[in-house]
Amino acid sequence: MLLIIALCLVLAAPLRALEEEPVSELRISYEGSKLLKVTAPSDEKKEALRTLEDTEGVEVWMTIAANSSTMDVLVKPESADKVKEFLDENGLQFDVVIDDLQAAIDAENPSPSPEEMEELEGRKGHRMTWHSYHRLADIHGFLDYLAQTYPQLVSVETIGNSIEGRPLKVVKISGQPGSPAIWLDGGIHAREWISPASVTYIISELVENRDAHGEAVKNIDWYILPVVNPDGYEYSHRSDRLWRKNRRASGAGRCAGTDLNRNFDYKWGGAGASKEPCKEIYAGSGPFSEPETYVLSNFIQSKAGTVKGYVSFHSYGQYILHPWGYARAYPSDHADLSNVGRKIANAMYQAGGASYTVGGAAATLYPASGGSDDWARGTAGIKYTYTIELRDRGFFGFILPAQYIIPTGREALAAVKTLAVAVSEL
Ligand code: ARG
Ligand code: ZN
Repeated sequence: MLLIIALCLVLAAPLRALEEEPVSELRISYEGSKLLKVTAPSDEKKEALRTLEDTEGVEVWMTIAANSSTMDVLVKPESADKVKEFLDENGLQFDVVIDDLQAAIDAENPSPSPEEMEELEGRKGHRMTWHSYHRLADIHGFLDYLAQTYPQLVSVETIGNSIEGRPLKVVKISGQPGSPAIWLDGGIHAREWISPASVTYIISELVENRDAHGEAVKNIDWYILPVVNPDGYEYSHRSDRLWRKNRRASGAGRCAGTDLNRNFDYKWGGAGASKEPCKEIYAGSGPFSEPETYVLSNFIQSKAGTVKGYVSFHSYGQYILHPWGYARAYPSDHADLSNVGRKIANAMYQAGGASYTVGGAAATLYPASGGSDDWARGTAGIKYTYTIELRDRGFFGFILPAQYIIPTGREALAAVKTLAVAVSEL
């Protein structure tokens, strides 16, 4: 008996160590960093503004989208004077949208009171609330709770592990026998916290409020991976709130990590992706060089033919994007993708009140190759493939306060309900 206990402790040790903060790891402060929304009314001004993208102390949150004339940039305090000078010299007007990013970070995610936590544990057996952003352990605990509580309906499968060894947990919510499948994922980009929050909201509604959402959702096998990038997600909670990539070691600071949404094996390494490890859009050393993307793609391929819908949830900007993302081009069934896209936008607006723009990913936003959506469509052959950029339009950006989780989650749910109807009609 003692031996068994000792063995369990030894086996559990590395897992526990993962959740602890390494001694050497610092929490990055964004004190004094500002978010600016800069307007470039002409092509000439846009050209000038784009030179900011390679400026030290400046991080572009949202580049000038094809349908827009603004760029959202984060400016570090030490670069503020230089950047203001540049903007003035070029006659570029701007608004200070966030005056102190660290203050915004501190305010976005109020921790639940111990009383609330205790009550939730006792009542429901999991810790998710959708009133705050939760750590990976809570999200995984919620999935396991559902599988235990609804064994006929829900199952959880670990389809592989991240580069740091965290499980990639897919929840399956079964439809009637013979149902087509829809794949949903979230959290490809670590800092886009509203994505896993909304995807877990969808899961909760599809299971615990199943009868409220019509027949179509019951005639779908749902496969849902709420956190594709668990290492990055945890890192964004522990250390750097603005981390985007996975956590592959390849040098210090920003040079670590691969952009998982540039790592898929479809037009890998083309426009809008970088071969330089220090870039936020580093595509990796080769297509599917990362376990997170490789495992996801293998799982979807193993269900080939049954998966008819794919949605990857990101933030921010309020876009419903369909292929292609690698170039301003469209598949031959462009009309179907855009018709269903517009239905999704209407449903999202009805459900939550935010307006979403529909269009091809490269044409509407910007070209970016090696994305999961292009692979889902181009290689896996999934007809209704979308990337949805959730709220907002760059007022909080990635730092969307937790009180927006439920309204945004309602929009995300409305989107997938609409998709379920479209898939059922195929
Ligand atoms: N914001 C997303 C990204 O940069 C958009 C991806 C859209 N899809 C695409 N294949 N470009 O990853
Ligand atoms: Zn993203």
